[in-house]
Amino acid sequence: MTATLWALLCAALLGSLHLAHAQQGGSAGPDFFSRLVTAPAKVYGEVKKVGVLPKERYDDKLFNHTGFREWLLRQTVLGEDVSSQPPPMSYKCGVFVNHNYKIIFIRNRKAASTTVLDTFKVACKSQSKLLCMRPFDAEEMASRGVTHDEMWSSYYVISSTRNTWARAASGYDYTQDRWPIKTGVCGNLPFRQFCADPYLMGKMANLFRCGTQSSFRGDDAWAYDFYHVEPAYHCMTDAAGTGMSVDFLIRYEHLHEDFAKLLEILNARRQAMDPKLPEIRNSKMRWMKQGVHVQAAKNNASEVGESGMWKEDAAALVSADRHAVKYRECGMECVNDIARFFAKDLEVMKLEMPKQ
Ligand SMILES: *[C@@H]1O[C@H](CO)[C@@H](O)[C@H](O)[C@H]1NC(C)=O
Ligand SMILES: *[C@@H]1O[C@H](CO)[C@@H](O)[C@H](O)[C@H]1NC(C)=O
Repeated sequence: MTATLWALLCAALLGSLHLAHAQQGGSAGPDFFSRLVTAPAKVYGEVKKVGVLPKERYDDKLFNHTGFREWLLRQTVLGEDVSSQPPPMSYKCGVFVNHNYKIIFIRNRKAASTTVLDTFKVACKSQSKLLCMRPFDAEEMASRGVTHDEMWSSYYVISSTRNTWARAASGYDYTQDRWPIKTGVCGNLPFRQFCADPYLMGKMANLFRCGTQSSFRGDDAWAYDFYHVEPAYHCMTDAAGTGMSVDFLIRYEHLHEDFAKLLEILNARRQAMDPKLPEIRNSKMRWMKQGVHVQAAKNNASEVGESGMWKEDAAALVSADRHAVKYRECGMECVNDIARFFAKDLEVMKLEMPKQ
């Protein structure tokens, strides 16, 4: 057992999958698929913010879901060819703000955003209320005397990224796992079909009432299974959809390393802005939701001792192998479908498909 784990760890850590390869009996497949789901974005850490996130993408009162509704109706009900344009956003970006430290955090769903927010939540509870991150609130903003765009350009804007193939597979698991009904008409949704159309989960949830209809998020429940799989670029780019509207990107694959760097930056800003504000401490970060998978891999990882990489990050990468399994079974068609659907994300993150 230990030998297999060591092999997996090496594979994840060094990107060299020779050991895993030997373990799995020799086909060229495993190397590629394991690398496919663990490759991190090449754009990370401090990036150049060239514009603001348009306010109608995150302000509740300004977000208009008509565009997505029309797009979905035309594609699904009327059977029109709508492929000439990327689908509009199904839901507003999840934006959290701290006006004391002038920080904005944009939640990229299925990319460790809960883990990052939880760290602030713990600090807010145990350290100081000044550290609380709160969902964007236009009134709170107005009371600080700033407009949307002023806030966006002067605050430090943070988000996270995750390997596109892993994020998609994670969205497939996550949405289905939450369905109260997983059998009958709601059962047996092959990964293959999901890759061909990642909006499948949202369509199924609404068409056959598989999803968490009224029990969660009230009137917005219909969108839940759409926005958990939708492209992430909408919420980290400017109006053109190409320039960055963030200052810092945390990689899911290097969460601890990148977060430590981020805290250095935030504390330096704090010092310059108002030294009376409490320092943001680097408390022990816990992976949220990933839960059992990361926990299991972490326990195993500790057996092999120091690896030169954060243990938790190594664990997250090892656990990602359960996503590699899906693509391995499904093959290149799935890999390419996901690359097509998320083309804009790949471009923005400068994430390339590994060589086969
Ligand atoms: C929402 O967008 C549609 C067009 O997509 C437009 O006709 C409608 O007036 C908009 N609604 C609001 C409240 O702005
Ligand atoms: C961890 O090790 C146990 C037993 O050694 C094994 O059953 C399990 O699959 C391993 N988990 C991971 C995520 O590697």
